[in-house]
Amino acid sequence: MATWSLDPNVIHLNHGSFGACPNEVLDVQAGLRSELERNPVAFMLHTYQPLLEQNRAAVASFVGADADGLVFVPNATYGVNSVLRSLEGQLPNGGEILVTNQTYNACVNAATVAAERIGGSVVVVDVPFPLASPADVVDAVLSAVTDRTVLVMLDHVTSPTGVVWPVRDITAVLEPDIPVLIDGAHAPGMIELDLADIGASFYTANCHKWICSPKGAAFLHVAEHHREHMHAAVVSHGYNDGWPESGSRFHAQFDWTGTDDPTARLSVAAAIEVMGQHRANGWDGVRQSNHELVLAGRDIVAKALGVETPVPNDMIGSIAALQLPPPEAVSDSIFDELMNELHHTWKIEVPVFTWPHAPHRVIRVSAQQYNELGHYERLAEALTAT
Ligand SMILES: Cc1ncc(COP(=O)(O)O)c(C=O)c1O
Repeated sequence: MATWSLDPNVIHLNHGSFGACPNEVLDVQAGLRSELERNPVAFMLHTYQPLLEQNRAAVASFVGADADGLVFVPNATYGVNSVLRSLEGQLPNGGEILVTNQTYNACVNAATVAAERIGGSVVVVDVPFPLASPADVVDAVLSAVTDRTVLVMLDHVTSPTGVVWPVRDITAVLEPDIPVLIDGAHAPGMIELDLADIGASFYTANCHKWICSPKGAAFLHVAEHHREHMHAAVVSHGYNDGWPESGSRFHAQFDWTGTDDPTARLSVAAAIEVMGQHRANGWDGVRQSNHELVLAGRDIVAKALGVETPVPNDMIGSIAALQLPPPEAVSDSIFDELMNELHHTWKIEVPVFTWPHAPHRVIRVSAQQYNELGHYERLAEALTAT
């Protein structure tokens, strides 16, 4: 059974942004930290790599990927940057990198820099929200691909709108001719994953969101034919095979990127185990109960606001967004002022994004094992009072 150290005076409806880590996993991490500090040299040179391999195997099996193609990175942003930096020397000059109106802003920025370096451009596809079916996403993305498209970058679960996209239907058409980079930041632990079936050239995702590992743990999976030209966003010993502990040059480039606290990535297997034991029916039970709770919570809030639910239930994982009426004062921040008010006055943590642009805005609720229906009822009360 997982227990949490979340502030009991706050309603936490934003697991999506930074996750939360159970005490039982933090204990494992604390144990690793004290072992490291008892003998840092022995830990880094002898203990680190075998533990890393155990965690790599656990994550690979959890997401249906081959461990040979999987490396740890500190976060999905780093994963996306690593792919883009590595591709700069490979992509044809003048090419187009396709992103969408729902791509995470930090990753659009990374694509913009990469496109500048290849003398190309970023093309932003408008994918509808609200939407009626997965085909809306597939049609929008595929109709924007041209013979100048050199990379398609897609979110698996969109950040501002909280929709699970049918990425498999897109990779099935584009790969391997046009490489697809999937940013699955929210996906592991939220939806069942089979990376081998998805078949993307690149898939990066966080463990510190829905697997509930400590912060600073994420992975990048790379298809075999791209591994030889991959570099981590931070180049270190592995570039010239100077990290002999790793099983391959591809692994070596990511296994050591300079001294850091490696205990987050070394605690991912523990998080998979602890969260998997939280429900009698394991991870299926965690995912299903989070899914059911977020739908029920979203409906409570939608009813209180008198707004439509914008997405079919089977395209939701455990985050869900609703469109809000425009604010009185237009915000130039991606975070709407209402988010601050809910934080300060109501002690409710929930993101309210300006999206797709002012004055439009969305509110996004999350559901994790520590949430209950009353949390959404309190949010509905706050929203109708403000
Ligand atoms: C779709 C998406 N990509 C990337 C990120 C960035 O995650 P991180 O800050 O862990 O790199 C997020 C964070 O919420 C996200 O939602």
